[in-house]
Amino acid sequence: MTRNDNLAAVADAAAGDGAVRASGESSTTVREMRDRVAAAVVGREHELDMLLAAVAAGRDVLLEGPPGTSKTTLLHAITDAWGIPLQFVEGNADLTPSRLIGHHNPARVLREDYSPDNFVAGPLIEAMRSGGFLYVEEFNRTPEDTVNTLLTAMAERRIAVPRVGIVAARPTFRVVASMNPYDNVGTTRLSTSVYDRLCRIAIGYQDDAAERAIVVRRTGIDSDRAIADAVALTRATREREDIWQGSSVRGAIDLVLLINQLAAIRDVVLPQADSVSPPRGLPESYTSIVLDAMHVALSGRIHLDETVDATPESVLHEIWQDHFLLEPAAAEPG
Ligand SMILES: Nc1ncnc2c1ncn2[C@@H]1O[C@H](COP(=O)(O)OP(=O)(O)OP(=O)(O)O)[C@@H](O)[C@H]1O
Ligand SMILES: [Mg+2]
Repeated sequence: MTRNDNLAAVADAAAGDGAVRASGESSTTVREMRDRVAAAVVGREHELDMLLAAVAAGRDVLLEGPPGTSKTTLLHAITDAWGIPLQFVEGNADLTPSRLIGHHNPARVLREDYSPDNFVAGPLIEAMRSGGFLYVEEFNRTPEDTVNTLLTAMAERRIAVPRVGIVAARPTFRVVASMNPYDNVGTTRLSTSVYDRLCRIAIGYQDDAAERAIVVRRTGIDSDRAIADAVALTRATREREDIWQGSSVRGAIDLVLLINQLAAIRDVVLPQADSVSPPRGLPESYTSIVLDAMHVALSGRIHLDETVDATPESVLHEIWQDHFLLEPAAAEPG
């Protein structure tokens, strides 16, 4: 047995009686698993404990948070540690129950008639058969009859597929749904009966230090100056009244990558870290690179309030000015 088999078997066992035992072998192993999963994720200890506890307890989960807040990263880390597949499906109007379940190959049906053999499994059946997690992103965009199909699979842990038979889920099968709480265009409010069938974990943005660590990990670029500026500028997009949704850490990652490339193109050496805070008096050759990089990395990632008469570029320019040029005293109210 490999280590992965072992962990998956423990997960199977834990799910079998619906809960992780309070003491004894399986709870130790959940601990071990937790430490192993934590190594793949920057910070997020609290969310990880809650998510791992919920899935180890045999529960299906709703992750609620804005884009770029580690949802996929956490799930990947857990399913990798368990040695099980992570099956993605995007919730939208096209996600019908039959797309979720699967279909019979029409050409083969003409030749051979319907048979379990010519059934092409959809993501739900794949996840049930393989004991994987079915990750339904943008769950609040999923049509109601599809949600009902999911709820049935969650409750029964088995599903009757016409002309195929009963498909029983392996014990590690879970449904994890996600949604962005700020997203209200083209979405439906989930009914209370849907909420009643799921555990829910709310996820927000990480702190400044964690975001810097993520950017270092994802870019491999070690300019403290550029990383501190990119993270601060990206975070500033979440603080403004004229932006209803700012950029996630993805914007900071791209900002650093772009700063690095523009510096190489323009033959500019990135300033060193001795002046990380406050970022005043930096050479214009550097700050102008940051402004250009912001336009590319952030202008499509900020969503202005509808009532605001401004462009993403002008708002980004103000954020840039506040960061690099404004005297700290002038920034204080009153
Ligand atoms: N805690 C973290 N540790 C390491 N990397 C992270 C962390 N959080 C986010 N990232 C990185 O930031 C990016 C976005 O994270 P992720 O894909 O997990 O977000 P998400 O919540 O799934 O977003 P979405 O809702 O848009 O799918 C990825 O490149 C990921 O590697
Ligand atoms: Mg994701």
